[in-house]
Amino acid sequence: MTIKRYKITIVGAGHVGATTAQLCIYKRLGNVVLIDVVDGIPQGKALDMMESAPLESFDMNVKGTTDYADTKDSDIVVITAGLPRKPGMSREDLRDVNAEIVKSVSEQIAKYSPNCFLIVVSNPVDTMTEVARRYTKLPRERIVGMAGVLDSTRFRHFISLELGVSNVDITATVLGLHGEDMVPLPRYSSVAGIPITELISKEKIDDMVKRTQDGGAEIVKYLKTGSAYYAPASSVAAMIESIVRDKKRVMPCAARLQGEYGIKDIFMGVPCILGKQGVEKIIELKLMPDELAALQKSAAGVAKSVSQLKV
Ligand code: LAC
Repeated sequence: MTIKRYKITIVGAGHVGATTAQLCIYKRLGNVVLIDVVDGIPQGKALDMMESAPLESFDMNVKGTTDYADTKDSDIVVITAGLPRKPGMSREDLRDVNAEIVKSVSEQIAKYSPNCFLIVVSNPVDTMTEVARRYTKLPRERIVGMAGVLDSTRFRHFISLELGVSNVDITATVLGLHGEDMVPLPRYSSVAGIPITELISKEKIDDMVKRTQDGGAEIVKYLKTGSAYYAPASSVAAMIESIVRDKKRVMPCAARLQGEYGIKDIFMGVPCILGKQGVEKIIELKLMPDELAALQKSAAGVAKSVSQLKV
């Protein structure tokens, strides 16, 4: 019997990238290559992680490098490279500078791992996923942006705080772009199968929806020097786990729409089944007119951002 060990490349050894690398090895998802342009950082963080192996009892490997040749034939690549937000900035303010970075990273990925599954995290993520598609030419089954898992885990946490029930019994659905116009769907969010609309007043739900939409900014405001990374890294690791273990979990991902929800040719958060083939299916929920209108507004925001790209 051959047991396949996945090769996972994480581009960017900052907080999100390094925490994702740590989760990947602690969850034994595969061997990790952590790559960054700043010489020393990926090597140092990788060695530090490897020195925890005897205590954490893992035999996965993390290699830190600045050389893309080390990423050759990766099964999964995660792009976290780029600038994070500072207080007062929107994700859109990062568009032009991060587009250049994601473009050059994508060219390297296309060269060394043309058949990988790619997860883009750099912001504004829906637009950066389109940049990565342009320069990797990956088919839509093999490229997504990470946002919906993060936005819905935040929503789940707020529901748990409100009701005083375990996080694990809560599911939540957040679709659309990763920005203020994201679309949390209370009707499709539940506690042990009970829709939250049966358990929480409309006013309280509206407050939680708003807090979810501002979830990233809330953390940036506290940290001041950067943005969130624990929940983003957990979100990426959960997506990778669904793929490498072929779990076929249903997770909101920024997938390239080809007519689903009446939307075409942009990446935006929709429920996807993630398994060993990558995006195995996009699920089309039945939406009420106001929900669909909110999703279309989100789509218009992504389309506008993409139309302003210079790469
Ligand atoms: C956030 C960043 C990752 O929402 O966009 O925290």
